[in-house]
This record gives sequence, C-alpha cells and structure tokens, in this order.
Amino acid sequence: MESRVLITGASGGIGSEVARRFAARGAAVCLADLRVDAAEDLAREIARGGGRATAVPVDICDRASVARMASAAIVALGHVDVLVHCAGLDAPRGNAWELDDEDHWDRIIDVDLNGAWRCARALVPHMLARGAGRIIFMGSVAGRRGSASASVAYSAAKAGIHGLTMALARQLESGGILVNAVAPGPTGTGEQMTEMERLQDEKASALPIVGPRPVADACLYLAGESGDWISGTILNVSGGRWHG
Ligand SMILES: NC(=O)c1ccc[n+]([C@@H]2O[C@H](COP(=O)([O-])OP(=O)(O)OC[C@H]3O[C@@H](n4cnc5c(N)ncnc54)[C@H](O)[C@@H]3O)[C@@H](O)[C@H]2O)c1
Repeated sequence: MESRVLITGASGGIGSEVARRFAARGAAVCLADLRVDAAEDLAREIARGGGRATAVPVDICDRASVARMASAAIVALGHVDVLVHCAGLDAPRGNAWELDDEDHWDRIIDVDLNGAWRCARALVPHMLARGAGRIIFMGSVAGRRGSASASVAYSAAKAGIHGLTMALARQLESGGILVNAVAPGPTGTGEQMTEMERLQDEKASALPIVGPRPVADACLYLAGESGDWISGTILNVSGGRWHG
C-alpha cells in the first residue's frame, strides 16, 4: 500500500494498532496525538521495523492546533490520502443529570464530535484539490443503541459521528472523497475498566473481546482498493454486539 495516512489519536489503543497495521502494509503514516511523546515513541518503533512514520502534536479541541497538524502532515507525507480519526475520550459513567455539564456533556461533545469535524474540516480542502481522499471516523455501538451504563454524551457524540459520516459522504463523493466510519464494540482499550465492567461487556458480546486489531483491519479495508465503492457506511466491528 503506497498511501499516505494521517492518524489522530495514534498514541491510543486503537490508533496505535491502526498505525502499526497501515505501516506494516507499506503506508507512510503521520501520527497525531495530544500525547506526542507516545506518538514519537511509536514512530521510532515503526521506523526501526523498516516503516515510514512521523509524529505531530495536536489538540483536536483547538482549531489552530488542528490546522498546524494538517499542514505538518501534508509537509511530512507529501500529501494525505487517508485520515483515520481515532482521537477521542471515554466519559464518566453515571446518570447524565447528576454529572457536571462542563466536565461531562460539554467536554465529550467537544472532543468526540466537534473534534472529529475539526480534523476532517482541516483536510477536506486538501483532498478536494487532489480530487481524492478517504476519511474514516470512529463511531461506536454506543451511538447505535445507547448504553445504560456508559455516558449519555458519549452515545450522543457517537450518534453524531454516524450522522456526520453519512452527510459528509453525500457532499464529498462527487469530489472523489469517500467518508466512512467504523463502529467498534468494546475492544478492551481506552478507559481502564473494572473487572466487573469487563465481564459485563464480555457478556453483552456474542464473540470474545479480542483487542483493537479487527478495528484496524476494518480501516485498512475501507482505505484500500477494497473500499473503492464504499461511501457513507457505518461498519460495525463489534463481535456481534450490534446487528444492522
Ligand atoms: N476502546 C473501545 O472499546 C472503543 C469502542 C468504540 C469506540 N471507540 C472509539 O475509538 C476511538 C479510540 O479509542 P481508544 O480505545 O483507542 O481510546 P484511547 O483512550 O486508548 O485513545 C484515544 C487517544 O486520543 C487522544 N486524545 C484524547 N483527547 C485528545 C485531544 N483533545 N487531542 C488529541 N488527541 C486526543 C488520547 O491522547 C489517546 O491517545 C475513540 O473515539 C473511542 O471513542 C473505542
């Protein structure tokens, strides 16, 4: 795979797996994260294995920082074929009306929904000018069916990601840009879970939790030739946790 790929949230559980899988397939990757030290470590690890990787800092809540990330990625990679947007936050569990709005609703919508839009927005003009591009967002099963235990804001943000994916796909298809999302079930990455929460998650899935690899492979599928005719899809990768 000759493609040049910008991955946000690349220091995280899913983003780092996406980075490793794309690099192993020959893609040049630019790794963006708030935790830039971890992204730089991963870039060095990929380079030691013969891959091509650079790291850039980003705070997806800050439009200027996102613009700097986009410019740095275009310089580092030459151009960007694919944006895989993995940066995001889990939210506090509990009843939404009992949580502090600033710390819960406002923060989660800003990071998980607005942040995704800021990153796509920064790359779309570049992709339109090239007449080609792929954008892959991280949705969630929580955005499909809600969750009694997880955050209401998180489910709302992820449902928003699914809407953003479909609407943006409609607007960009004619410009050669394909927009899709992967909707993972629990991968065991992200926020630390208690043993009880992990067992509950496992019980709710038909298939055992196997980590972030299937999510990364779904991104490879959407980004490659296999995804040439796929646009506006929310691809469930959830071990049977959601059907549809
Ligand atoms: N882990 C799961 O089970 C699961 C399930 C469904 C959806 N998802 C979604 O997949 C994505 C990745 O999840 P993960 O498990 O890798 O989480 P993670 O916490 O391991 O990684 C998220 C990464 O995003 C980065 N990040 C957070 N806020 C940022 C900001 N403001 N600017 C830049 N970077 C920021 C973090 O530094 C971290 O490296 C998230 O959108 C998450 O909601 C995860």
